[in-house]
Amino acid sequence: MLGKDQPVILQMLEVPGEGMKKLQGVKMELDDSAFPLLAGTTMSSDPHEAFGDADYALLVGARPRGPGMERKDLLTANAKIFQLQGSALNEVARRSCKTLVVGNPANTNALVAAHNAPDMNPENFMAMTKLDQSRAEGMLAEKYGCSVDEIDRMIIWGNHSSTQYPDISHASIKGKWAKSVVDMKWYESEFVPKVQKRGAEIIDARGASSAASAAAAAVDHLNCLHVGSGDKWQSMGVVSHGEYGITPGLYYSVPTLCTGDRTYRKIMGVPIDPYSAKKMNTTEKELLEERDGVKSLLGGSFEKIVKPYNVREKLRASMSEDELKTLVETEAKFTFDETLRVRILENVKSAAPKPELTIVNEVLKEGGQPPYTKEIFDLMKGNPMQRKKATEMYTEVKIKTAVSKLSDEEKLALRGSVKGKKAFEF
Ligand code: LMR
Repeated sequence: MLGKDQPVILQMLEVPGEGMKKLQGVKMELDDSAFPLLAGTTMSSDPHEAFGDADYALLVGARPRGPGMERKDLLTANAKIFQLQGSALNEVARRSCKTLVVGNPANTNALVAAHNAPDMNPENFMAMTKLDQSRAEGMLAEKYGCSVDEIDRMIIWGNHSSTQYPDISHASIKGKWAKSVVDMKWYESEFVPKVQKRGAEIIDARGASSAASAAAAAVDHLNCLHVGSGDKWQSMGVVSHGEYGITPGLYYSVPTLCTGDRTYRKIMGVPIDPYSAKKMNTTEKELLEERDGVKSLLGGSFEKIVKPYNVREKLRASMSEDELKTLVETEAKFTFDETLRVRILENVKSAAPKPELTIVNEVLKEGGQPPYTKEIFDLMKGNPMQRKKATEMYTEVKIKTAVSKLSDEEKLALRGSVKGKKAFEF
């Protein structure tokens, strides 16, 4: 989960009585598996003990949904569990602890836990939508005869529920823009509802909620966070600061990149067409309803960290030519900053003579004015694959310009190799 050399201690939490008895069995199985990286296990029925000094918390324990139950039915019962766990994390976990909420309704449980941990950064709480992304990738791979590795930029927006929006508008399949490959009738009438309702389909079949695939997704999520996800987009339910017009404070799934520094960065500037905007609004509405259903448990206030964000994506369809041009430039800048930051962080990590952030900031400052060519600008207005190409071309020009202004020592550090590969040629 945390890389092939990182030992872990599992501090396991269960309910007293029957729960603890079953946990004994789990512990025995863990011991008997002789996992080389398992450095210890503890058991407790008290979250104040189980979360002590935790670096990562996986909140999987919640009343599971049974056949015929809607996720909303779980709202109040489970929110109380997450209120208690949020407050215990606040008291005893490490300040930097990253918390992944898996128990349903995951996004709203993350909201409740984060609100009840006022001394912790709300960005350190996440709801799992990696499972939905994996499901969507699996279905596309099966339909179009490729491996899941050949699918990228598959985004899950919103709630981990049947209103989520699995968006292929920016995805690629075997290097081709998904929308040029996928049968859109199949996409809208079969694919989207199937991904949305996959959890319920599994419950109907097994009589119990997903277990192995959910565990695999939780491992993948934390692995990305700890080790990095390269340039593969990852969907995560994270706190909204108003990006894409989403109500600040909600835990809403968006695409992210993980650079392996135990954090994520949201992908900004993804263009939203009217179909997507509608779907994104539907899932946001459900999250607002869920939030209202647990209002009495939301103690803290996020206002100090959640800044309103000036977003125009949803208005794109009604924009004039001039407004659109400004928007395209703004999007390019966000994408550029993010891509550049990720690449530079990856490349200076081991050998930077200056603190890496200083170099990043210098390069970003230098890269302030976009050196558009007509070709780049035209591609920027095209489909997602064309925009991806434009961003790559644009990034190369800016990196070269910016890096040429650095000292020889800094250039050397930027050229420093990652896994033996030369990062840039100047
Ligand atoms: C899943 O997506 O498999 C579960 O979250 C479904 C559920 O409600 O338990």
